[in-house]
Amino acid sequence: KSLLNEVTAFTAKTKQDLETFRLKYISRKGALGDLFEELKQIPAEQKKQAGKILNELKQAAEGKFAELTQLLESSAQTTTDIDLTLPSVPNKVGNLHPLTLTKYRIIEIFERLGFNVADGPEIEDDWHNFSALNFPPDHPAREMQDTFFIEKTNKEGGDVLLRTHTSNVQIRLLEKQKPPVRAIMPGRVYRNEAISARAHCFFHQVEGLYVDRNVSFADLKQTLFHFAKEMYGKDIKLRLRPSFFPFTEPSAEIDVTCLICKGEGCVVCKRSGWVEIAGAGMVHPNVLRNCGIDPEEFTGFAFGMGIERVTQLRYQVNDLRLYSENDIRFLRQFHTEG
Ligand code: PHE
Repeated sequence: KSLLNEVTAFTAKTKQDLETFRLKYISRKGALGDLFEELKQIPAEQKKQAGKILNELKQAAEGKFAELTQLLESSAQTTTDIDLTLPSVPNKVGNLHPLTLTKYRIIEIFERLGFNVADGPEIEDDWHNFSALNFPPDHPAREMQDTFFIEKTNKEGGDVLLRTHTSNVQIRLLEKQKPPVRAIMPGRVYRNEAISARAHCFFHQVEGLYVDRNVSFADLKQTLFHFAKEMYGKDIKLRLRPSFFPFTEPSAEIDVTCLICKGEGCVVCKRSGWVEIAGAGMVHPNVLRNCGIDPEEFTGFAFGMGIERVTQLRYQVNDLRLYSENDIRFLRQFHTEG
């Protein structure tokens, strides 16, 4: 009787308590085990009665054990193991690459001015990368861009190479589309240069082309000025310096004022306060002729700018190599955009 009282009154706060209970009452060496041993010595006429009591005790103990186990488990779930007030583990989603973000922004700005987006091959022939763009054979201008050659051929297009600029898409577009043509052409380009913070063997450009009747140099300047204001803010200033490209005449380098970073610490701006963002000019008559367009009837402007450079100015990134190293710590910082 007293054992039965003990069993029913037992409470367990921890798993340890529960184990104590099991050892004490249920296991073979526990109190019940001992009583069953004693039962063997009891005279036959009392055995039936005593056995019945013992079985009841055993059932009570086992029932209690099951009950305590369940109680412990359910209280563990609600109080100790799970804290429902904790914020959930965030889902890590990817984000767009900074160069892609910049490319999208550039496209957005020019699309509003009526520019389409066009595309061309990265593996190109000499004709589209050089000859049609008015690079004379053996002209030093070809060496200005250290070309990766893939294959020497004598077929129609000449040598096969990795395009050194996106200007090849100007030719591809004008060959198949008559003016008016107004397009921007983003893409990857390749040059045989040693990799450093400021140079890479591949990078990205956006080419711009507008060919129609009466397109003037003033249109070129205002278009790029509008772009710079949209991209960097309305206080930006634009500067044009005379330059040379075989496929434009006249040609210019386009600089903008360095609004974001100044002084020696700023790798892209240096100390002058100006930073170059594009090469540009009026499409050379020979280029139009090479594409079957009459330069007496049509004129046009073209420009080419580096997407890395625009991105560097936008996000103050000092090292070009970061864009292609796939370091997650770098890439994650552009998460909120997009
Ligand atoms: N293709 C030139 C470069 O890579 C840039 C450019 C494009 C200049 C269009 C003028 C007109 O440097």
